[in-house]
Amino acid sequence: MTTILKIDQATKAFGEIRALRGVSFAVQAGEVLSLLGPNGAGKSTLIRSMTTLEQLDSGTIHICGTEVKADPRSARGFIGYAGQDSALDKVLTGREFMRFQGGLVHLSKAEVKERSEFLLNRFNLMDAADRFIEGYSGGMKRRLDLASSLMHKPKLLILDEPSSGLDYESRRELWGLLSELKNEGTSLLLATHDFEEADVLSTRAVMMSHGSVVGAGTPDELRNQLGTWVLSAALGEHQSEDHREALRNLFREVPGTEMPPAPQSAEYAKAIAAGNEDAQGTPWSEWLRAAATKAGMELTSVSVRRPTLQDAYLAATRLKVEVSA
Ligand SMILES: Nc1ncnc2c1ncn2[C@@H]1O[C@H](COP(=O)(O)OP(=O)(O)O)[C@@H](O)[C@H]1O
Ligand SMILES: [Mg+2]
Repeated sequence: MTTILKIDQATKAFGEIRALRGVSFAVQAGEVLSLLGPNGAGKSTLIRSMTTLEQLDSGTIHICGTEVKADPRSARGFIGYAGQDSALDKVLTGREFMRFQGGLVHLSKAEVKERSEFLLNRFNLMDAADRFIEGYSGGMKRRLDLASSLMHKPKLLILDEPSSGLDYESRRELWGLLSELKNEGTSLLLATHDFEEADVLSTRAVMMSHGSVVGAGTPDELRNQLGTWVLSAALGEHQSEDHREALRNLFREVPGTEMPPAPQSAEYAKAIAAGNEDAQGTPWSEWLRAAATKAGMELTSVSVRRPTLQDAYLAATRLKVEVSA
């Protein structure tokens, strides 16, 4: 295995805000690693430190064996970066922009030309290549940004929230292109707050919360740590506090990990520890329905589903809160 990126105990504070509190992980060649966490988790700060736009307070970042602080120029040469807010020069055409970017990365004129054409084609921009970027859609701008970041064939492609602000179709198209890069063995670091995006694209995820790593593994490992199934139920509107308490008590009888409720949700959920049935062989969902009816509760939904990455994330952050409390 070749280590492309290695981060050791990275810390960074902005005044009182500790954006990074000792983050460590590595990316091996051919991995698509997603850095997963909500806004404010510290993802962009970490990425900006990799791209030398920001300096860590302590800790180290090695890219292809080169320490970023010690030799920023070489380190930058190994990476391609498409940021959260791309700064495309709108007065250029797509083709001019590619040529301009190529001029910045020490390739010969002929190489720049060839590579530009290849990448414009690759990212479905050939038809729009001679139009001004100003008139591009959000998805086209994002694809051009991506294309230009690959100009110098970087060892590691770093993307910060690549699909933020894109409509559903553009997002799907981008995911398709990123999946192709993944299948070709491109090493990719992808910062995202989008659980589905991380699930679809990544071979491994590092989950971050408030500047710390709270879990890491393949999407399946992260899900399975939680259990095989998640049982959930929602109370109907106008149910009394007694009913809420009664439902909580019913859930306590199911062995497994309680899930923190999603924001603004009337749903109760629990990752079931083993199997999907009680000792009598009754599926938990049926057991719950029967017990609720008996207690006079109105449940609007009862479901059993596979845990999602979001479930895994919520469980990991809850456990962390409990440990540090
Ligand atoms: N230049 C800055 N000055 C002050 N605070 C910052 C700066 N950059 C980031 N932060 C703060 O650091 C924390 C992490 O932010 P960021 O790395 O952007 O997270 P993410 O990309 O995961 O949303 C946030 O609380 C953010 O407000
Ligand atoms: Mg960010």
